[in-house]
Amino acid sequence: MRTASEWAALDRQYLWHPFTQFDEWLDQPMLVVDRAEGVELIDVDGRRYLDATSSLWCNVHGHRHPRIDAAVRAQLDKVAHTTQLGLGGTTAIELGARLARLTGYARTFFSDSGSTAVEVALKIAFQCQQQRGHTGRTRFAALTEAYHGDTIGSVSVGGIPLFHGVYKPMLFDAVRIPSPDRAGENEAALLEEAARLFREADGTLAAFVFEPLVQGAAGMRTHSAAFLEALCTMARDAGALLVADEVATGFGRTGTMFALDQTNVRPDILCVAKGLTGGYLPLAATLTTEAVFDAFRGPYTEWKTLFHGHTYTGNPLACAAALASLDLFEEERIIEGLVPKIAALRDALAGLTHPAVVEVRQVGLMAAIVLGPFPTEARVSHHVALACRDEGVIVRCLGDAVVVMPPLAMEPGDLRRIVAAVGSALLRVAGPPTAAPIAGA
Ligand SMILES: Cc1ncc(COP(=O)(O)O)c(C=O)c1O
Repeated sequence: MRTASEWAALDRQYLWHPFTQFDEWLDQPMLVVDRAEGVELIDVDGRRYLDATSSLWCNVHGHRHPRIDAAVRAQLDKVAHTTQLGLGGTTAIELGARLARLTGYARTFFSDSGSTAVEVALKIAFQCQQQRGHTGRTRFAALTEAYHGDTIGSVSVGGIPLFHGVYKPMLFDAVRIPSPDRAGENEAALLEEAARLFREADGTLAAFVFEPLVQGAAGMRTHSAAFLEALCTMARDAGALLVADEVATGFGRTGTMFALDQTNVRPDILCVAKGLTGGYLPLAATLTTEAVFDAFRGPYTEWKTLFHGHTYTGNPLACAAALASLDLFEEERIIEGLVPKIAALRDALAGLTHPAVVEVRQVGLMAAIVLGPFPTEARVSHHVALACRDEGVIVRCLGDAVVVMPPLAMEPGDLRRIVAAVGSALLRVAGPPTAAPIAGA
């Protein structure tokens, strides 16, 4: 058996971690996960930590859930992977039918990650417009501070300068529709600006792409359902298709199965990933209406085929996990059970009174504790996230925000423990509350 420091040394020798500055990674203590149980991760020394990030926003029912474990094992006894290119596969077929029943969308195109779900949606929207004869509709509209993944198309519609700025010369231009810092704030003025932008882009847009209600990677920025509905009406009037990215918000995170369930928006294309398999295996789906699908039909030599596909598209193990996860949603009435959990998280967050907490954002079980004002180089939110580990809690920061996005299975007591850990970590990192500077005083 290797020791914790041997694991860390091997990691530092061989791995390149996502969204991680290696020089910082070298300096900080490394937590190496070996296994998990329920909502807890267990490190190589046997220490347990609440998984307050849902293993990057994907775990739903907890780790090693007996039902999902059994479904994946049963699928292993049949086949681990076969291709969807030119062949059908029973498990993917079953999941496609299940997703159609769940979402009301007619067609499912499978891929592997949130990024590919969006990448596929962009290509479908573009090609659909072309094949409907709207050859001038070649551009995309997207929100400020949007995040849709890390492939080049999804980065192009992304709008977070820190993540996306360096790639600008590689990207296509998007019409940038302003989104508010928080729901209700300044929305009327932003809608006027959006109306102007959509008018100017009239006839040139293939699609408007958006994260409904919560812009997760922007630090859980929220907008109202009415704001989104107004934008979508403008986008439709400009001839754009609507693409909803529910990669983060899907599968219960906002308190409803999909964030769109809280709106009257009915997009042409829906992207899901992360929680689709309960957070077990990489699987994504780009769902479309039959009308969109129809634009791709015709004799082969009309070249209307969607020429896109990935090796592990519709992977049977991942589809089996997804089917078991959807069974659990139904049988255990997961969405109904969220109400007291969301309230417990809200109450706990309301108790965070340290003056360095400048804002708390929460929709359902997606929350961000925004800290400030601190100089960027102080990396306060990062240090708070690291200090939470001493309390047995794993959270991550996004900019100035400490993000809390627990598995839906987490119980109120553990939700309170997470917020208490952030509070005590903040005390240790930022010091005790002193007389807070009061604006205007
Ligand atoms: C809204 C949204 N879209 C797309 C993605 C990209 O998903 P993935 O990391 O699986 O490529 C993310 C990831 O956080 C996301 O939050």
